Amino acid sequence: MSLPNEYPDFFARFYDVIYDHVRSSSDHDYYLNKILESKGPVLEVGVGTGRFFIEALNRRADIDGIDISPEMILVLKQKLPSKHHKRIKVQDLCTLKMPRKYELIIAPFRVFMHLPEVNDQLSALNSVYDHLLPGGKFIFDLFVPNLKMIAEGVDNMNDFNGEYEPGKKLQRFTSMNADPVNQLSYVTFTFVWTENDKEYTEEWKTQLRFFFRYELEHLLCRSKFKSYHIYGDFSEGELTRDSKEFIVVCK
Ligand SMILES: C[S@@+](CC[C@H](N)C(=O)[O-])C[C@H]1O[C@@H](n2cnc3c(N)ncnc32)[C@H](O)[C@@H]1O
Repeated sequence: MSLPNEYPDFFARFYDVIYDHVRSSSDHDYYLNKILESKGPVLEVGVGTGRFFIEALNRRADIDGIDISPEMILVLKQKLPSKHHKRIKVQDLCTLKMPRKYELIIAPFRVFMHLPEVNDQLSALNSVYDHLLPGGKFIFDLFVPNLKMIAEGVDNMNDFNGEYEPGKKLQRFTSMNADPVNQLSYVTFTFVWTENDKEYTEEWKTQLRFFFRYELEHLLCRSKFKSYHIYGDFSEGELTRDSKEFIVVCK
């Protein structure tokens, strides 16, 4: 069973409110510093609503972005001066086609886990490789599979309860059940929000592909990349048995 990967409008609309809260404390400085330290142009694949992109541009980075979801790109464009709109495109990472090459390409926050099929994973790695300047790097992250969660699933966990604007309530509930053979987490996100004194509910079902360490290493060896290093956290600490993240740096 394959579920849609394109983020729907209500997910894009509330993305910043939720993920600035639940994600930015862990990965923000890592990716922003990588972008700002880059000696040449940078591409963010799966740029989303621009969690890094906007700050990077404001700090004079030469950065472009692509994303498969028109809804996410729309939210990003609404936040960007029109002179920068040419820097972002709706594109699939697996068939990347950009007019220039990059010193650094990044895919922050599980972008690669949106590719369930091995052929797409290899196409994505090789398309990225083909868009790197000599000596360039590709950095992406995945979560380390949590075996307890895979076994038990998640039942309607309330992972956000706040306001999206002053006085306007937003809650999100997440459920997950895993298929360990095909290494897929089937996720249902339910959004409940208030607007004009009415309550709205919308649901999105999608899947994330999870990777074990040596599958990831074999995949990288089958790609065009010449070398790689997998770190275990956003300080680039080595992998340990307690690591929660795979941070993959490919050359
Ligand atoms: C969790 S969001 C991360 C967005 C952003 N990088 C961030 O850190 O906030 C994953 C993004 O990957 C995009 N995506 C998923 N599959 C993709 C593909 N095949 N090609 C390009 N973008 C994709 C989604 O549309 C979504 O915007």
